[in-house]
Amino acid sequence: MELDLSGYDIKISDDMNTWEEVNLLYNAALKQIQTKIEILNDEFQEVHRYNPIEHVKYRVKGPESIVKKLKRNGYESTIENMVRYVNDIAGIRIICSFTSDIYRIAEMISGQKDIQVLTIKDYIMNPKPSGYRSYHMIVSLPVYLSDKIVNVKVEIQIRTVAMDFWASLEHKIQYKFEGKAPAHINSELHECATMVANLDARMLSLNEEILAIEK
Ligand code: GTP
Ligand code: MG
Repeated sequence: MELDLSGYDIKISDDMNTWEEVNLLYNAALKQIQTKIEILNDEFQEVHRYNPIEHVKYRVKGPESIVKKLKRNGYESTIENMVRYVNDIAGIRIICSFTSDIYRIAEMISGQKDIQVLTIKDYIMNPKPSGYRSYHMIVSLPVYLSDKIVNVKVEIQIRTVAMDFWASLEHKIQYKFEGKAPAHINSELHECATMVANLDARMLSLNEEILAIEK
């Protein structure tokens, strides 16, 4: 994930050093969280004979999107502003089977001593007007370099397979219409989101019923 910022009008601040260092730090933070998530999933499998996590996606935000986001929010493109105001430079998306897994995973992550939860947005309890559902956390964790420890922010999105299916299509549609999709498409999407929520609820109760029989 090599990011080349030469071509962009970025002012390098003295304290947060170079873009190369920022890039290194966010990649390091992702690697650490990746390992933590894998360990939690393995442990869960060992104890409960079941994998809460279907799959995980990791990405470092591209320089164009970082600059665009800063501009959209009225900030100058400096390293300092990136680090301070762009909370999703490092992003993780955890996809699981059931809504209950989402909270289980969120708890396991936030229970880790070196992870500090900065913000939580529960778009499952409070869906967005679009119908979007997911659980978001911005966390910060220490990355150890040879001569210092730096706290790095990571955005974690946790959602079910069904929520992810919906969000992917909705994103594609909004991208195509540059955020101004026709009203009937938006209302159709919203209806689908409600169906997804119902599906998740039914799959969860089915699973609970099956688990009860197994016992
Ligand atoms: P951004 O500026 O987009 O990062 O939003 P925010 O800072 O208000 O944070 P929020 O937690 O609302 O959204 C962060 C991310 O969640 C977005 O970048 C998307 O990946 C995802 N997201 C939020 N709302 C929607 C939505 O309505 N549809 C889809 N498909 N994704 C969404
Ligand atoms: Mg974002």
